[in-house]
Amino acid sequence: MSRNVHVLNQCEPKVGKTSLIMSLVGEEFPEEVPLRAEEITIPADVTPEKVPTHIVDYSENEQTEEALKEEIIKANVVCVVYDVTQEETIDKIRTKWIPLVNGGAEKGSKIPIILVGNKSDLRSGSSMETILPIMNQFSEIETCVECSAKNLKNISELFYYAQKAVLHPTAPLYDPEDKQLKPQCVRALSRVFTISDQDNDRILSDSELNSFQKSCFGNPLAPQALEDVKTVVWKNTSDGVQDNGLTLNGNTYTNACSHTKGNYIDLRNVIAYNSWNSYGHGSTRILTHSLLAFYVLRVPVGCTTELTHLGYQFLQRLFEKYDEDKDSALSPAELRNLFSVFPFMPWGESVYRSISTTEEGYISQRGYLCQWTLSAYLDVHRCLEYLGYLGYSTLMEQDSQTSAITVTREKALDLERGQTQRSVFLCKVIGPCGTGKTAFLQDFLGQSIMVSHAIMTVAFSLYTINTVTIANQEKYLIVSETRYSCSHRGGLDRDIGVRWTLHRQKTLPPLKDVMGPVIKQHYMERGVPCVVVASKADLSEVKQHHGMSPAEFCYKHRLPAPLRFSTLHSHSNAHIYNKLVCAAMCPHLNGSDMSSTSFWLRVTLGAAMATVLGFALYRAFYRHK
Ligand code: GTP
Ligand code: MG
Repeated sequence: MSRNVHVLNQCEPKVGKTSLIMSLVGEEFPEEVPLRAEEITIPADVTPEKVPTHIVDYSENEQTEEALKEEIIKANVVCVVYDVTQEETIDKIRTKWIPLVNGGAEKGSKIPIILVGNKSDLRSGSSMETILPIMNQFSEIETCVECSAKNLKNISELFYYAQKAVLHPTAPLYDPEDKQLKPQCVRALSRVFTISDQDNDRILSDSELNSFQKSCFGNPLAPQALEDVKTVVWKNTSDGVQDNGLTLNGNTYTNACSHTKGNYIDLRNVIAYNSWNSYGHGSTRILTHSLLAFYVLRVPVGCTTELTHLGYQFLQRLFEKYDEDKDSALSPAELRNLFSVFPFMPWGESVYRSISTTEEGYISQRGYLCQWTLSAYLDVHRCLEYLGYLGYSTLMEQDSQTSAITVTREKALDLERGQTQRSVFLCKVIGPCGTGKTAFLQDFLGQSIMVSHAIMTVAFSLYTINTVTIANQEKYLIVSETRYSCSHRGGLDRDIGVRWTLHRQKTLPPLKDVMGPVIKQHYMERGVPCVVVASKADLSEVKQHHGMSPAEFCYKHRLPAPLRFSTLHSHSNAHIYNKLVCAAMCPHLNGSDMSSTSFWLRVTLGAAMATVLGFALYRAFYRHK
């Protein structure tokens, strides 16, 4: 959109075009005017919308029609001036001036027009009656205004409307031919309505209405204006007002009115018109604001992103608002309501595989907060965008969503200080096909692999997240598996670059070939703590045909002894997840719990933190009969 507004004044001679411009600039009526005023530029800081505005005069006596056409091409808005005392100047609007401006233009590319009735000081009544049919005939007429250059009535308003017609055109919001708001506008209004309706009773109370007004436009509506709005809506709709508040229909009606030309003039008198009229724009404004944050948050290498207290508070509030049956869980319908302000559904089926759900399969409150934590950690910019859609800045009275997010200290600094303030940790699970990585992830949610296998065909998640309590503090642990195709021969994990040909045969590949590169890359080179998990611990141990057993391997590499994991003994697995977080948080302290052979740990994990590499490995590939 142009950040410059070109206003062109044109029409019949002697209607007072030049006088209008001179009155605006000089703030008094000039008795003597030239035929044509010089082009003037009003600097941005003195205009209501804060954009530089150029005003160009036209004089038939001085300019040819060709010159006028050139000016029209440059104009963003044209003021067609008529003399309220001379009907024939009104006729010419229809027959001459509008065709001249927009004659050849396609629907949608027409230049907005403002009709200006000058010399209102010379007439007692209004020219509206003659003007309204013209306004209805030409959809490009944004508005009309009666004014007087002589007693300076409505002069600054005129130029304000001209600016507004360019900066906030009604065309994208209102369809003058169908006389109704366009679908996008209705959607934007519903979004604003849903966000503003904080108690979720589908009615905007005075205070809900005003808190939105305030956050969007800086001022609440005056009490009288509020009453007037409701009266107008009540008179004109069957269901616009309920329990002394506006319903969604009432709200939409008000906006539709403010865009309808006839009513527009009435409504302008009864309500604080400008803010209502901007209501639709307000929603786009909020949306734009929310997306702006996309560009500001910088996350340096070695840092992670977490939700702040404010962020959690906001999300908690939303949860409570949409958990209508107060069962501390969101049913699919409640979830859809929560996301009704989105242009799309952000959470797919895979969410149900990432977080713990209730017995009915609904999203629990903890699961809900976990999912947001995961989103903030993995894709912070998307998370910010989502918070924007949910109206974070409006409801929390913040400038942007960035206050919902904190960027953690660099990992290197954490390592140096030997402590971390983080509360979200990521653990990667790496292991060959069939070792039970998915079972390890699902077990963390308290779900059995049977259930998840059944669902896996529908949705699958490479991440699970849950809370773990360490020393009375709640921490989040994300467990992620690196997926590779089991049918893909020779591929263990392309990240790690191990070549391993997996045949369904009765021997296991040498441990050192599988683990060696992992240990080297993650643990030795990057100081990430490694924990070996022996899965399928209920089955008997496979003989290692190629050298070392897992325990020997761990001993040799100064890793804690393998932790035993079995899906059959879910309750005894919890300690593994706890230990993963401990290792990540402060390995030098927790090393001693992790294994009886604690001296290795002090040496080997002492310098490492923040990311845990779990290594799910190695109980039988085949059942031991
Ligand atoms: P051209 O440049 O010849 O096309 O005319 P114009 O449209 O620029 O009109 P201009 O400003 O020269 O004004 C024409 C006459 O109308 C002058 O005598 C003005 O003093 C008078 N006039 C302009 N505005 C008003 C007004 O608001 N009220 C009254 N009473 N007279 C006005
Ligand atoms: Mg003139």
